[in-house]
Amino acid sequence: MTTPHKATMSFSDGTPSVDFPIYKGTVGPDVVDIRKLYGASGKFTFDPGFLSTAACESKITYIDGDKGELLYRGYPIEQIAVNCDYLETCYLLLNGDMPNPAQKKDFENRVIHHTMVHEQMTRFFQGFRRDAHPMAVLVGCVGALSAFYHDSLDIQNPEHRFVSAIRLVAKMPTLVAMAYKYSSGQPFMYPRNDLSYSANFMRMMFGTPCEDYKPNDVLVRALDRILILHADHEQNASTSTVRLAGSSGANPFACIAAGIATLWGPAHGGANEACLQMLDGIQAQGGVAKIGEFVAQVKDKNSTVKLMGFGHRVYKNYDPRAKLMRETCYEVLGELGLENDPSFALAMALEKIALEDDYFVSRKLYPNVDFYSGIVQKALGIPTSMFTCIFAMARTVGWIAQWNEMISDPDQKIGRPRQLFTGATARDVKPIGNR
Ligand code: SDX
Repeated sequence: MTTPHKATMSFSDGTPSVDFPIYKGTVGPDVVDIRKLYGASGKFTFDPGFLSTAACESKITYIDGDKGELLYRGYPIEQIAVNCDYLETCYLLLNGDMPNPAQKKDFENRVIHHTMVHEQMTRFFQGFRRDAHPMAVLVGCVGALSAFYHDSLDIQNPEHRFVSAIRLVAKMPTLVAMAYKYSSGQPFMYPRNDLSYSANFMRMMFGTPCEDYKPNDVLVRALDRILILHADHEQNASTSTVRLAGSSGANPFACIAAGIATLWGPAHGGANEACLQMLDGIQAQGGVAKIGEFVAQVKDKNSTVKLMGFGHRVYKNYDPRAKLMRETCYEVLGELGLENDPSFALAMALEKIALEDDYFVSRKLYPNVDFYSGIVQKALGIPTSMFTCIFAMARTVGWIAQWNEMISDPDQKIGRPRQLFTGATARDVKPIGNR
């Protein structure tokens, strides 16, 4: 990892210059190790938003933003999406390589036999209003899981970490489906061990005790692909939160709950819900004919309107997941006879106009994974308010893989950034009569 090269920081204020080692990864930008800067110069670096900061070393997911490339453990997302299912992808992210048939069967078996939640978890839901946002419910319930698993909270024990990973991957679909059922007043559906991961989720979401539910294979495959595309994505905001929470030694359930809370924001995982609301808004005002007016609002510096589902901190080219998601849109809408779905037609018209408009081209703003995922999920019958819960369900394996990688690192330290302080310097408190 180290290179013979170094970076030298020199100062015009008389501070002695400092040399830093440069490290090279297997692919991607080199890094300058500035850990000794403060000790050598009394100065910090300043990088709010982490535009130029690598917070860790990782072997899990690689993104090339300029090429629009995404690799999970070295395998291109385009090949995984076509050749694998979600549980295979979970195995890959957690273990570092693809499972062989025996490993796949064993992993599936372990997950299937952890899909039920403790029966007392059902009482947590009673405390929420029926119209509570499902992400609020999910944050609460996942954080509460740690109350049920005192047998596996020693994060220094690899077996405890592994069983926690299995429990989280296995129970997220059950909890997400329970949040949906609770909001609709329908009874919870128990998981079934004779169904695949995604078929099981579809049945827990849309089945009822009144009749058998036969999942549609095309729709199940589409959901499985959505989960694959959202499984991990390097050091995004929610993953960085999970790593920071984990660096204090917090248990994995609490760390994942922190990740869910971060994902909820519209700038991050909440964008798919916001994107569909944006499309519905344009549709209500007249549809394709109103795109020009909407885009003008987006470009107006005085408006806070953003083109949701567009832009990305890393991708300065087309998000490869957006391409795959658009293909899935065609498949699902075709299967359901919704080829003329107005949202999809509007999204494609909006994409075409944006990709020809200099405002977006000059800022390298392209569709990201959230631009089409809402349309697919809506077609699958998933309500808009549940979109980010589906994202959280998919991303749990990525969060836990990144958390495990961090905890397993012998050099791991608690994350504790510093600041540029521009507030009041020391001053005396005046008695209230003199203020
Ligand atoms: C996800 O990080 C990940 O990997 C996240 C994710 C994952 O899998 O974990 O990929 C999932 O979160 C995808 C992103 C979903 N969010 C959205 O779709 C919300 C809309 N997008 C933006 O809010 C924005 O693009 C961000 C937050 C995604 C990225 O913001 P940056 O990198 O901080 O870029 P920026 O805000 O500084 O934008 C640069 C310029 C600005 O204009 P100027 O000040 O230069 O004139 O581009 C403009 C921005 O105003 N801009 C947009 C825009 N996104 C950026 N203008 C209109 N619409 C947009 N969507």
